Amino acid sequence: MEVQGRSRSCLIRCVSALSDKRMAEKAQNRKDFKLSVTKAAEIIKENIEKGKSITLISHVDADGLAAASIMGKALAREEAFFRIRIWKQMDELLVEEIASEEKSLLVFSDLGSGNLDLLSSKLPEWDIVVLDHHQLIGKPSNKLIHVNPHNNSFDGAREISGAGVTYFTAKAMNELNVDHASLAVVGALGDSQDKNDKKKLFGLNEEIANDAVNAGYLKIETDLIFYGRETRPVHKALAYTTNPFIPDLSGEEDKCYGFLSNLGIKLKNEDRWRTINDLNIEEKQKIFSELAKYLSSKRLPNTIAFSLIGTVYTLIKEDRWTPLRDAREYSSLLNACGRMSKSGLGIEIGMGNLSGSLDEAKEEMNGYRKTLAEYMDWMTKTPKATEELGNIYVINGMGVIDELMLGTIASIVSTSGFFNENKPIIALTSTETGMIKVSGRIPNNVLDKKLNLGTIFDKASTQFSGSGGGHDVAAGAQLPQGLENEFIKLIDQMIGAVKE
Ligand code: C5P
Ligand code: ZN
Repeated sequence: MEVQGRSRSCLIRCVSALSDKRMAEKAQNRKDFKLSVTKAAEIIKENIEKGKSITLISHVDADGLAAASIMGKALAREEAFFRIRIWKQMDELLVEEIASEEKSLLVFSDLGSGNLDLLSSKLPEWDIVVLDHHQLIGKPSNKLIHVNPHNNSFDGAREISGAGVTYFTAKAMNELNVDHASLAVVGALGDSQDKNDKKKLFGLNEEIANDAVNAGYLKIETDLIFYGRETRPVHKALAYTTNPFIPDLSGEEDKCYGFLSNLGIKLKNEDRWRTINDLNIEEKQKIFSELAKYLSSKRLPNTIAFSLIGTVYTLIKEDRWTPLRDAREYSSLLNACGRMSKSGLGIEIGMGNLSGSLDEAKEEMNGYRKTLAEYMDWMTKTPKATEELGNIYVINGMGVIDELMLGTIASIVSTSGFFNENKPIIALTSTETGMIKVSGRIPNNVLDKKLNLGTIFDKASTQFSGSGGGHDVAAGAQLPQGLENEFIKLIDQMIGAVKE
């Protein structure tokens, strides 16, 4: 007995020593990450002080637009000379275009880490800062300041977004930039970094959310996650919810009105429409349980219904009746601007120039939702649009799906139980420039931790004179037209090989 007792206490001591070691490592990683952030902030400030101009280059999605807006506001605060450019992806042509321009400090946000060799070889004489969270491809030159959470053992797909990396840099430039923390929360949600228990942001994202709360900009609570909890009539909020996509309700206001009325939910208080916020707990529970039954009648798994409840992030300084009030809705608005080729509008919104631009962005959002609903409808009704291979599902959107919308479609499908089996989703379409654009997503319930789509896309696309990369669970690639069938076959094989 005595020996057993001693060995048990030894085990407890060893486990606790191990967890102490892990915590110390994590703290050191955080410190190292912040050091790299400080270095980037110093370089940017040095350039501002010398009166040099800065070119800020960011990605076209919600995270990229949030990142550009954060840095844009930080640079404006320092009265810097700067301009902002938004790209859908980094490629040789665009880097060559920069190389032909007058020199400035280049600050990349939410892109760059996947193109380190390209930046180093094409822009050897330029001062470059990369603030990104994508997986690294290539090596940075000595001249390039590279801030990326993967360098410090943080998971760039889940713990911090491009907007988050940019936020920490902005905060290191000037503590006052803490007022942009909630925009970094918007960026993280735009990149679906809330795929956790209770849809809560964690890791470095949690630190950012806490900054926003402490500065008085953000409220965090648990509730139904409908689009427009505080801003829209309940039936519209349900209809606007496309993540998860609820068959026959998402995008269908009239049907949502009928669904909720049949449940006996009072949709108006005298003349005023009620919002989710106005409902009492019993009403919310009723809606949730009936939606769960509805989804199960459509043979969709329980997890889809549970993704309708979770952590809600409210930007309490934004006007209650605008889509900027709810962080997920804000991210959708930015995403819509980017995907509808109106990234300038997204930047206006992110930087707080709302007069006129907010109404215009809402219009874009309506068009964007309509187009998404049309694509989903087309996919449901067109047998040839989707195909199941051994290890993946393929969505063939060639000639139908706009290249800027492809990633969003792949994301929606991967979170909506659209297919019976749990397999990675690979979507493809043709581009205006005669290329093929590919988007890959690994649904949450595909639990193979070894699967890394970003690495697979990188390796596979280089075999077909293309380029690819991204995160382990969400990646993209471009390759010349005509090679798509061989490429898809290879991706299927490579994913199969990981499982063996
Ligand atoms: O384009 P899509 O949304 O499918 O891309 C998924 C992720 O992969 C994004 O974060 C995007 O920035 C990244 N990506 C990349 N390199 C590429 C294509 C996409 O890092 N060549
Ligand atoms: Zn991102």
